[in-house]
Amino acid sequence: MNLYKRSFLKLLDFSPEEIRYLVDLSAELKDKKKRGIPHDELRGKNVALIFEKTSTRTRCSFEVAASDLGMGSTYLDPSGSQIGKKESIKDTARVLGRMYDGIEYRGYGQKIVEQLAQYSGVPVWNGLTNEFHPTQMIADMLTIREKKGDFSGLRLVYMGDARYNMGNSLMVVCAKLGMHYVACTHKDYFPEAELVETCRKIAAETGGSVELCDDVAAGCKDADVIYTDVWVSMGEPDSVWEERIKKLSPYQVNAAAFSYAKPDAIFMHCLPAFHDLDTTIGKEIHEKFGLTEMEVTDEIFEGPMSVVFDEAENRMHSIKAVMYATLKEGA
Ligand code: CP
Ligand code: NVA
Repeated sequence: MNLYKRSFLKLLDFSPEEIRYLVDLSAELKDKKKRGIPHDELRGKNVALIFEKTSTRTRCSFEVAASDLGMGSTYLDPSGSQIGKKESIKDTARVLGRMYDGIEYRGYGQKIVEQLAQYSGVPVWNGLTNEFHPTQMIADMLTIREKKGDFSGLRLVYMGDARYNMGNSLMVVCAKLGMHYVACTHKDYFPEAELVETCRKIAAETGGSVELCDDVAAGCKDADVIYTDVWVSMGEPDSVWEERIKKLSPYQVNAAAFSYAKPDAIFMHCLPAFHDLDTTIGKEIHEKFGLTEMEVTDEIFEGPMSVVFDEAENRMHSIKAVMYATLKEGA
């Protein structure tokens, strides 16, 4: 397996073997970290972390992982650089490529991260775009494997906006790894037909499947994993809340949804999550629409089926694996 110098932009670019390798490597690096075995094998290298959208997990994961690997890192916040405003992505890529060994990008269109990779000459890692969130997928697959032993044959049900980064990425990774993916949501939030077609072709080769379903009982039946994400993503206007609440409320992950799933089904969420009124946005939505919980109830989020904090921790181990595999010759 050789991922040296490869960019990590979306999982469609990677074979099932390469994805499994990254999950294995994440587990190996997690074990080293837990046992206090140093793994600072990338000493002397530096990475740039561009965030055009905010972050807690992804930013902290890249910074801690870079430090554990012996690398320096520079964080460019959503307002603290010339990117896009005074300098094109093509020019930025050529500047950063002269100073850094790798570049993380979180922001808007997938085209931006593709362009960074094309012009920088160094590995570029997608830390979330509107279309995909691939580093989250390696963490999620590590989490699923830790809880379930393997991924093949499992039924993963995604409830919510299945046309966006999380739904798209989960559909791709499930197809690649022979899992059964179900987008259980309002028809308006079904994924784009072309990507569904692509994933179905992949699934036909791996033994997986892709299903679109707007009935909660049928969709969640025998689920091994029920997954959700915020109803309104970063960068979307506040004006979409009303429609999302109306159309996605029936697809809230709650005890009723779990009653159809397998008894040992787990709950996953990339986080951040609106499961109580302890956030500013949660309070605003409560005042405006009367909701106390949104995509997931507090009961499920805090329940024994919830693995969300293991999942969050695994972001760091898997981001470390992605950087290590693409920056270390002979990794
Ligand atoms: N899941 C995730 O990407 O979290 P952040 O937005 O905090 O990075
Ligand atoms: N769909 C969410 C994912 C956050 C990790 C967003 O893009 O805001």
